[in-house]
Amino acid sequence: MSMFSHPDFDNHEGVYSFSEPESGLKCFIAVHNTNRGPASGGTRFWNYDNDAAALTDVLRLSRAMSYKNAMAEIPLGGGKGVILKPEGNFDREALFAAYGRAVEKVGGQYITAEDVGVSPDDMRTIKTQTNFVAGLDEGIAASGDPSPHTADGIFRGLEVAVKHKLGVEGVGGLIVAVQGLGHVGYDLARRLKASGAQLIVADINQAATQRAADELKAKVVPTEEIHAQQADIFAPCALGGSINTDSIDNIQAYIVGGAANNQLKTPDMGAELQKRDILYCPDYVLNAGGIINVAAEVSGTYVYSWVDGKLEGLRKTLKEVFDRSASSGRPTNEIADEMARERLKLL
Ligand code: NAI
Repeated sequence: MSMFSHPDFDNHEGVYSFSEPESGLKCFIAVHNTNRGPASGGTRFWNYDNDAAALTDVLRLSRAMSYKNAMAEIPLGGGKGVILKPEGNFDREALFAAYGRAVEKVGGQYITAEDVGVSPDDMRTIKTQTNFVAGLDEGIAASGDPSPHTADGIFRGLEVAVKHKLGVEGVGGLIVAVQGLGHVGYDLARRLKASGAQLIVADINQAATQRAADELKAKVVPTEEIHAQQADIFAPCALGGSINTDSIDNIQAYIVGGAANNQLKTPDMGAELQKRDILYCPDYVLNAGGIINVAAEVSGTYVYSWVDGKLEGLRKTLKEVFDRSASSGRPTNEIADEMARERLKLL
């Protein structure tokens, strides 16, 4: 398929493919938009079925990063990297070093950080080859793992959603169904529990659910049933696409909001949620805490009060999305896209 007729091509400024047979590297880096600054977004390391699936992912995720960074009001554009996980044995350090060389070749138009499957250790390896990397856990402006800040932003945003939809302050006494207890999901669950929420959780990783049961007194349910729980909030914190034609009719929650990128399998799912009177917190607005933290590192001096201010800004932006949706009768995902494009000066 040619790039310019790809359904997910959205006038991306640059889409690069890199390969290095010695290390097994095959990756795509997409720079969607740099109107607000150099493109930034994490690198995903994933077992893709084929390179077409990886290309689709990088096109969608990089655009979402432009929207996310614009809505978070940080001076970064939108980009993303995806590495196709090699089959069989491979040398992880050699692979990520090769990826670092690929990032370097993009010449500063793209600054990388962690996403699914990638750790601060990998960032350190990338750093041996390029300075266009953040999410490091050592160095002058190091910001470390972005996940706790992502969870913090989601928690703050859910408070706004709860106030808007249920008219209550805070999550105390509410039931939250958390799908996926990884870096973000577990931290979010911990914050919710500490504020008095009751938890229902699911994860394909049994150790994670056992830990949530032991430490957070969470009720554990099978992964295929988590979206259908009788809960106030459904928080998708695993992979994308969990709001789809199969799941939507079973969602009982009043609010959907979590960490996962691209939670709506297709954009029309936003309208379908609205029809069912479920308030959807647009994923890239709610989950911007991590990239806000990365932006502090990219600026060269990490100052937490700046991060905290932007996380508070996230509350205001989300409130504006909900208010515009309520007054126009249009779904929140459409309103968020429109606001993002306004901020990117694409409208
Ligand atoms: P992670 O890889 O640490 O956690 C994902 C968790 O989901 C794992 O525990 C995994 O076992 C579980 N999982 C996978 N398939 C599942 C299924 N079918 N049902 C239930 N659980 C399942 O990833 P992380 O960092 O926590 O990210 C979670 C999501 O949030 C991803 O979609 C990521 O793109 C997104 N995100 C993460 C940010 C961050 O700061 N880490 C920032 C913004 C978005």
